[in-house]
Amino acid sequence: MLLSVIVLAAGKGSRMKSNLPKVLHPISGLPMIYYTIKEAQIVSDDITVVLYHQAKNIQEYIESKFRNINFKIQDHSNFPGTGGAVMNVDTKYEKILILNGDMPLITAETLLPLTKSDADIVMSVIDLKEPTGYGRVKIKNGEVEAIIEEKDCTEDQKNIKTVNAGVYIFKKDILEKYLPKLTNENAQNEYYLTDIIKMARADNLKIEPVWVEEDAFKGVNSRFDLANAEEIMQNRIKKRWMQAGVTMHLPSTIYIDSRAKFVGECILENGVTIHGESIIENSHIKSHSVIEDAKIKNSSCGPMARVRPSSLLVDTHIGNFVEVKKSKLFSVKAGHLSYLGDAEIDEGTNIGAGTITCNYDGVKKHKTKIGKNVFVGSDTQLIAPVTVEDNVIIAAGTTVTKDVKEGSLAISRTPQKNIKDFFYKFFKKEVKNG
Ligand code: UD1
Ligand code: MG
Repeated sequence: MLLSVIVLAAGKGSRMKSNLPKVLHPISGLPMIYYTIKEAQIVSDDITVVLYHQAKNIQEYIESKFRNINFKIQDHSNFPGTGGAVMNVDTKYEKILILNGDMPLITAETLLPLTKSDADIVMSVIDLKEPTGYGRVKIKNGEVEAIIEEKDCTEDQKNIKTVNAGVYIFKKDILEKYLPKLTNENAQNEYYLTDIIKMARADNLKIEPVWVEEDAFKGVNSRFDLANAEEIMQNRIKKRWMQAGVTMHLPSTIYIDSRAKFVGECILENGVTIHGESIIENSHIKSHSVIEDAKIKNSSCGPMARVRPSSLLVDTHIGNFVEVKKSKLFSVKAGHLSYLGDAEIDEGTNIGAGTITCNYDGVKKHKTKIGKNVFVGSDTQLIAPVTVEDNVIIAAGTTVTKDVKEGSLAISRTPQKNIKDFFYKFFKKEVKNG
């Protein structure tokens, strides 16, 4: 079916109490408007986003991610409200699907039941135990009579549990006929799109309510709603990856960005966080590890490891409290307590506990290169830029300030002195067995 889509995103989102525009608040790593537009593109090639508050920021974001989206700035000072938002929007097709930019959980699939009806106006409704915040829908003989915004409800009307989910399909001529007739005589002095229903009803038009999936049509108006939407989105993401072969221990404790990808068989233990465009292949991520925009293949991480952006781990094991940043590790073992930043470490190398690549001189970042089969002793500091060639031993406690040639031992230590009976003198005690 040929549909035009109008996405309403001009509202201030004042209930979020935020300087960031509501539709740019992220869910599972991406601004909520991203999801709405992505799904809208599945049903239509004619999408207009209506903007006003922080229009420039929002438009810039959308244009950085999508092509062929139209924008319309609402005449908000004269015509505030969802009705005002739809006024004078040019659309290509005869049917117009209206979506709210603050409904990130909608999918093309959940919109399908609405597109199937041929009524003059089709509107989405849900039955809620707790309808607070939504417009209430009066239904008689299977047809919608009116939508009453919460702020305009009488106490009796507030008890109506069927609410307007905020998504509609209008025939174009109906919008053209009724939009100019809207008034702002209501509690918020706004032009409500929902008032079209009352007028259309008076003219005996057919208005069909379609009950839709509650979770998919939840609107985000507050930070509390945002957290609820995040949880629903996370459950979807995790379910999808479990179906694709990822094992998750206690999935409710795991967070996965919507851009992350898994290949083959992976295990995620409890408390794991995967941010950004991470790609994880045949790997085991142990409890409470954090992976950020990294690639991990045939490897194990953690418990409590952190792999930061632009890192690549292949056939590698990193253990507890190992932090890797912008580094490439091939067949490396780094079992404990290390910082490996701006480094390239090659096959068969073992990184001892407490190893640190000192990559930052206070002004710039520098690289550390470690070759194959290097044994890096515990508590080694590598002062970058520095290169350690293949088959090298670095003695524990060494500060490596110079490049190390193939096959060498690097050692820098203050020679050890043992002073007899020092303990007893220092604490003024009698010498044992003395
Ligand atoms: C709206 C509906 C309500 C419904 C609810 C579902 C109206 C009058 N009310 O209420 O019946 O139950 O959605 O979520 O339509 N917007 C503009 N321009 C404006 C005002 C809002 O583009 O001048 C946009 C917002 O950015 C938002 C959407 O319209 O994306 C909905 O606005 P919002 O203020 O959240 O309306 P609700 O109070 O949720
Ligand atoms: Mg809303």
